[in-house]
Amino acid sequence: MHHFVEIDGALHAEDVPLTALAEAVGTPTYVYSTATLTRHYGLLRDAVDANRDALGDALIAFAVKANANLSVLATLARLGCGADTVSEGEIRRALAAGVPADRIIFSGVGKTDAELTFAVNAGVRQINVESSAELDRLVAVAAGLGATPEIAVRVNPKIGAGGHARITTGGEGDKFGVPVEEAMALYARASASPHVTPVGLACHIGSQITTLEPLEAAFRTLRQMTERLRAEGHAVTRLDLGGGLGVPYHSRTDLPSIEAYVAMASRVLDGLKVEAAFEPGRLLAANAGVLLSRVIQVNERGDGRRFLVLDAGMNDLMRPALYDAFHDLVPVRPREGEPRLYDLVGPICESTDIFARDRMLPPMQASDLVTFMGAGAYGAVLASEYNSRPLVAEVLVDGDRWAVVRARPTYDEMWAREPRADWLHPGSGAEI
Ligand code: LLP
Repeated sequence: MHHFVEIDGALHAEDVPLTALAEAVGTPTYVYSTATLTRHYGLLRDAVDANRDALGDALIAFAVKANANLSVLATLARLGCGADTVSEGEIRRALAAGVPADRIIFSGVGKTDAELTFAVNAGVRQINVESSAELDRLVAVAAGLGATPEIAVRVNPKIGAGGHARITTGGEGDKFGVPVEEAMALYARASASPHVTPVGLACHIGSQITTLEPLEAAFRTLRQMTERLRAEGHAVTRLDLGGGLGVPYHSRTDLPSIEAYVAMASRVLDGLKVEAAFEPGRLLAANAGVLLSRVIQVNERGDGRRFLVLDAGMNDLMRPALYDAFHDLVPVRPREGEPRLYDLVGPICESTDIFARDRMLPPMQASDLVTFMGAGAYGAVLASEYNSRPLVAEVLVDGDRWAVVRARPTYDEMWAREPRADWLHPGSGAEI
């Protein structure tokens, strides 16, 4: 459920008309709903709290990669949400947004020594170690700092899942995590080191997962490993279950509910006496955001093909170009008349700058406003300035108030980030 609703024939973000936002901020612009973020977090929090027996005092750590906007992070931080991070920049963002360090998990397949140093100094809750080589480097970093960071070993359970081959992370050939038997040995090695404190295991097998079976199989692997490690005398007190639960991009309703997902985790972990962590990204943010765009023009072809040319391009919303992802397109103020088929395209000079083919929409005209739904996760974070298009703006709505939470840069601001090489300054003889 989300809070982008039609009121008096026009789409609103909570109580704010999207037409007003388009006037004030321009397009393309991402618009986020505080109420939706709050609702999604609350549903997950309630489900997790209802299963406290099996999941302990579980941490919900929002995967910052899904939506790194400081105001979005601050909204979640105020609700008590933690952060799953994969870079120094994401740790810094989470801290800046008010997430306490002890609710920050540091994951990622390639953390530099500088990033590990930063994370240890910041006192993050846990560093998820993803390889033997990384453990060696972390031990050296920690020894140098005289610290003993708490770590989890990220397991690759050989179970890949997800909405697209390009967003699978837990499969055998994927670069993420340590295969089960190697992870067992790595855990023992970490336990023997005076410079790190292994506290548990982690896994994340993919994204936009639409059935519980692969997740359950992965959680069972973590359980079995926990029992084996404990039998070998190692302490295992935390299990990080990753993210990955799918969200309804289409109007399909056959997805597992949050309650069913958490109940499954609780069943699998029952009796283990561990503290669980969840790392949802998409689940919290996807349907809490839309991308607002304006029709530049409709290009009609003699053969009947009709291109709806939007002012949002693949540089603003990469998911269709990267993963053939589906985003529903909803006119902000639908016109009367027979629906027709449109191909939805952006203005970028690339043939992958096509959002969808053959979408049935009410008649559209130049300057009509449209929204891509479900764009709050992996939307703005993946945007670029390709074709020298200013980075897309972001707005956060809360009831009837709204704020620009990432301003669209002016061209001067864009150029200012590119200081000219001194030999190319005007007057240096380089003018043509
Ligand atoms: N934890 C880890 C370690 C992750 O790598 C990810 C996502 C998550 C949690 C959050 O997963 P989620 O709950 O959002 O599925 N750009 C792609 C998705 C990439 C996901 C990468 N890892 C897309 O737009 O579909």
